[in-house]
Formats: sequence, C-alpha cells, structure tokens
Amino acid sequence: MFDKSSLIEFNDVITQFGPNRVHDGVSFKINQGEIFGLLGGSGAGKSTLLRQMIMLQTPTSGHISVLGQTLGTLSPSEIEALQLQWGVLFQFGALFSSLNVLENVSVTLKEYTKLPTEIIEDIAHTKIKMVGLPPHAAWLYPSELSGGMKKRVGLARALAMDPKLLFLDEPTSGLDPASARAFDHLIIELKYMLNLTIVMVTHDLESIEYALDRFIILHNKKVLIEGTMDEVKQLHNPVLDNFFITNK
Ligand SMILES: Nc1ncnc2c1ncn2[C@@H]1O[C@H](COP(=O)(O)OP(=O)(O)O)[C@@H](O)[C@H]1O
Ligand SMILES: [Mg+2]
Repeated sequence: MFDKSSLIEFNDVITQFGPNRVHDGVSFKINQGEIFGLLGGSGAGKSTLLRQMIMLQTPTSGHISVLGQTLGTLSPSEIEALQLQWGVLFQFGALFSSLNVLENVSVTLKEYTKLPTEIIEDIAHTKIKMVGLPPHAAWLYPSELSGGMKKRVGLARALAMDPKLLFLDEPTSGLDPASARAFDHLIIELKYMLNLTIVMVTHDLESIEYALDRFIILHNKKVLIEGTMDEVKQLHNPVLDNFFITNK
C-alpha cells in the first residue's frame, strides 16, 4: 500500500477532536534526504501531524507509515526500535533547568544505552560541537543560555542517538532574525553531514524560502498544495498569495 521510496507517508488521514475535525483526508509523502515543511495557519493541524508521525497521537482514521513501518500495527519492541531512529525538538521543548548542557544532551544516551559514562560524555561533547556551540557551553545551565543557544542544545539532545529522522516544531520561533537564519543554516548543514531527513513545522517565511526542499500547506483541513517553492510560486493561487502575505 505504501510507496517504498518515501520515508514517511500519510494516506487519507482524518483527525477529529470531539466536534472539531482538524484533518479531513490528508495525504502526502516525505522523501529520504529532504527538509520537508508542514505549513498552514495557526490551528491548521501542523503540530498534530508531527505528533502523529512520532506516535504521540493517533489519527481517527487513515494510515501513516514511517521508515517503512505502518503505525498502529507495531509490537512494543518494534515501537521502541522505531523511536530510537528519530530525534525531536518540540516548540516549547524545555531543557532540564537543574542539569547543565552536557547532562541535558546525555539524558537519552543514559536512558537507552549501556555505554560507560565516559563515552556518553564524549558523545555529548561531540554533539555540542556539532550544533556550533563552544566547548565551554557544556558546563553552562539553561538559565545562562540565549534563546538561540537553548535551541542548539535541544538540537544536540535530539541528535544524541544518531537519528535518521529529525522532527522540529517551529524551531526558529522566538529567535531574532539573525539567530533564526543561523539556525536554518545549521539545519541544512546537518542534513548533509548526517544524511538526515528533516520534518519541520514552521511559519517563518525566510525559513520556508531558505531551508525547505518541499512542503505541504494545510488549509481547510486538507493539503492545499504539496511541492517545492518554485512549483508553488507558479500556481498563482489566491489562497497562497494570502498565505504568504499574512506570514510576512
Ligand atoms: N489533544 C488535543 N485535544 C483536543 N484538541 C486538540 C488536541 N491537539 C490539538 N487539538 C486541536 O487541533 C487543532 C490543531 O492543533 P495544532 O495541530 O496544534 O495546530 P497548529 O500546530 O497548526 O497550530 C487546534 O484546534 C487544536 O486546538
Ligand atoms: Mg503548532
């Protein structure tokens, strides 16, 4: 039923919360190696799609496959194996305020591996470096970090287990424009260095233009459009013009 070349596939997903139907037949595919955007107005159901991909929510009907597995049909061990293949940076994904950066980045490694502390620390230092933080940042506490640095620590934590897939919910929200562009740049760099596929919820127009390979726009509970920026710009759809203007 699912296309083997896609890493994530949604087929006719309906999501209903009580009387509130959020998705009414949503279908799209995410390919290996892309930075894929989930776009749409506030409340359009972007974060819900992301939470469904990582099994924090289940759609009312329809099918979702991730890394070739059909969600909702998996055994507990299959679920754990799948969960270890992705990293997530939530929109308000707080760091543990009582832990320093090194400890924050080490949390999943401590929980899911039996590696000796020394190796866990080495891995955490490497991830901290990878997200462009200086070595001394390892010893700082969240209250001592700027917004941009906190996002980078969250990213280092999401990358701790060497995931294939990275999920980011509004990663540049709350950042000043320069930090937001630097974060976009980092995401693109990491995608190439680590061979990642990245799913990103965003309404940051510059991120959309600069970082995304392809995206969907959710509108009226459905996928209005799926494509690249060039493809979408050629459509001259009034809803789209409105979408891109209201996002400016
Ligand atoms: N667990 C939930 N229970 C009830 N309603 C929810 C739940 N999660 C999301 N919703 C509703 O679904 C809609 C879409 O939410 P969300 O996916 O967070 O939107 P977006 O991320 O696009 O702003 C909103 O109306 C929200 O109130
Ligand atoms: Mg959201």
